[in-house]
Amino acid sequence: MNLEPVLDLNAYLKERKQWIDGAIDRYLPSEEASPQDLFKAMRYSLFAGGKRIRPILCLAAAEAVGRQGRPDSLFPVACALEYIHTYSLIHDDLPAMDNDDYRRGKPTSHKVFGEALAILAGDALLTEAFQLMTRRDLQTDYAPENLLRVIAEIAAAAGSFGMVGGQVDDVQAEGKPGNLDTLHRIHTRKTGAMIVVSLRSGAILAGGTEEDLQALTNYGHKIGLVFQIADDILNIEGDSALLGKNTGSDAARGKMTFPLFMGLENSRQKALSLVEEALGDLEVFDDRAAPLRLLARYFVERKF
Ligand code: IPE
Ligand code: IPE
Ligand code: MG
Ligand code: MG
Repeated sequence: MNLEPVLDLNAYLKERKQWIDGAIDRYLPSEEASPQDLFKAMRYSLFAGGKRIRPILCLAAAEAVGRQGRPDSLFPVACALEYIHTYSLIHDDLPAMDNDDYRRGKPTSHKVFGEALAILAGDALLTEAFQLMTRRDLQTDYAPENLLRVIAEIAAAAGSFGMVGGQVDDVQAEGKPGNLDTLHRIHTRKTGAMIVVSLRSGAILAGGTEEDLQALTNYGHKIGLVFQIADDILNIEGDSALLGKNTGSDAARGKMTFPLFMGLENSRQKALSLVEEALGDLEVFDDRAAPLRLLARYFVERKF
């Protein structure tokens, strides 16, 4: 049976976003908790309207390796990925980094709460992501060695060899000549690492084989790059109202991007060919990988 034509990706994304939003709301202390400004800032950025792509990839990878039904027991890990991603955006927007005023359709955290609170809300989200992954229910639902492996992989992907390292390279590359190899390295680490680990963590906990994990890693490297190429393209020709963030900022800051090195059309072609390759990586899976197949195409076609 081929599920692809009957799967409505928009409905799939919407339902999963609702699951994740509901879970985050349950995990996060209320705005009344003290210090109020901190919890307000954490909630403000988390609920400003992110697409929840990383948690959704985590759930979809679990599904591809055979986990069926609503996977509530994966929610703490899926939400931890979103906490880390949201922290990375809050810090990415700071004046010391990309200095952006608008994110997820709202003024950025530092614009609303000030820089100190924005930094600290990011710090808290990163720390609490790891706390979420030590919840007691996770410890009973999953083998400790798998949970520990997931936590270690997420730490590596978020840290100095992964996203943070990529962000350092991104900031230090501003205004420099560079080349496609440098850029590839930046994108792979600043965006790709968290996307790959989102897939791997869902698959590890759902009992995927090493072959499954390898296939998802290969797929993730490609769609991670596609995701960031699309982000670069949207920064040039996207609709800022739809995107919820300002356009034109990459060129203004002298950022290295795919369109800078190869032009818009070649960047689009590069993304499309990576999508085809990524679909090849999924051939080891059956129809349960239908959402991942549709997501690969969505990443290149997305308007926000
Ligand atoms: C934006 O990520 C930053 C990049 C890594 C390109 P998303 O496009 O997933 O942002 P949200 O979470 O939906 O706001
Ligand atoms: C953000 O990259 C990547 C991370 C926060 C890790 P960008 O700076 O290119 O993304 P936007 O355009 O601000 O969302
Ligand atoms: Mg940046
Ligand atoms: Mg930025």
